[in-house]
Amino acid sequence: MSYIQDFEKLVQEQLKRVERMKNEPPAIDYSGLDKIIIGFVDGDGIGPVIMKQTRRVLDEILREDVAEGRVEMRTVEGLTLENRVARKETLPAEVLEQIRQCNVFLKGPTTTPNETMNMPNLESANVALRRELDLFANVRPISIPERGIDWTFFRENTEGEYIVGSHGVAVSDDMCVDFKITTTQGTERIARMAFEYARANGKNRVECVTKANIMKKTDGKFLEVVHKVGEEYPDIRVEDWYIDIMTANLINEEMQKDFQVFVMPNLYGDIITDEAAQIQGGVGTAGSANIGNRYAMFEAIHGSAPRMVEEGIEDRANPESLMKAAELMLRHIGFAQEADRLRKAVDIAAADPSLHMTGTKEGSTTEEFTEAVLKAL
Ligand code: IPM
Ligand code: MG
Repeated sequence: MSYIQDFEKLVQEQLKRVERMKNEPPAIDYSGLDKIIIGFVDGDGIGPVIMKQTRRVLDEILREDVAEGRVEMRTVEGLTLENRVARKETLPAEVLEQIRQCNVFLKGPTTTPNETMNMPNLESANVALRRELDLFANVRPISIPERGIDWTFFRENTEGEYIVGSHGVAVSDDMCVDFKITTTQGTERIARMAFEYARANGKNRVECVTKANIMKKTDGKFLEVVHKVGEEYPDIRVEDWYIDIMTANLINEEMQKDFQVFVMPNLYGDIITDEAAQIQGGVGTAGSANIGNRYAMFEAIHGSAPRMVEEGIEDRANPESLMKAAELMLRHIGFAQEADRLRKAVDIAAADPSLHMTGTKEGSTTEEFTEAVLKAL
């Protein structure tokens, strides 16, 4: 019955994490830094292709800030599938150390190796980075102005089904158990970020999405804590939804316009933000911010698309999502004007009728899209 001891150990570690969260230092104030260091992590598959082009755009936008020493851009090496597989490590120590030397970083998608790929079954690098750097908030904006849609998703980004997702137990050949963990502290901080965003942006509603009718303890706590934090924001109404009906409502044209801000546990947020991105025009069109009090990571919402590499069409990958992630990064470090400039140019390129970012061999190339962005800057 060794799994009972394993469970005990897992619970003790999580209780320690709760203590750490109680003593968490406040969020970093970028305006107080002499210099902001931005890291760039290529990722796997289409990652290096979309990163190269996104960097060209950032080089242009931040030229003066770099020249005058307000911003430094650094390439972080070694978070490649090859290196991780060779080392049998999800996050090689020297990679994590390079990342910790940066304030924020832009990351291309990483491939998670497993046995069906004839590789060791390693944890997702993404999940490990979020946990190691305590990037507790996954913020994903979706906007379709012509349909009156302006949504911002606040997905809890470390806990829930993910925090010990690789520590489930095969109790017997016939039965497996996984664990889902929700804490008061972990829920409070994501809820507070959602309400603060709502208040700062003139929104008067927050949709809290759970499955608290079934996951009574964990989602029950999430719901309870969101409402408790919500009491501090009497001008904002909290609406409760179950995830199943919310996935339906998201495509209900009568209701879409009413939604503004969403807050939800990790796995539901993972699923529903892909749906939301698809409503916007595809997962290639959405950026994602992973925010903690000390570090922040910005990435495309989609994966590394190994299929495109196998077919030799990686040069046709749509860089829009990574460019939107770069926009979120600029905004996060206080470069609002630069963020607006980037976003406007990306929107112009995305609406260009001569470009077709289909991700197929007939589609336009990543470079062609980028040229249109550079021209529109
Ligand atoms: C996302 C991705 C990740 C997740 C994967 C790559 C681990 O789907 O960022 O939404 O499940 O969170
Ligand atoms: Mg996802």
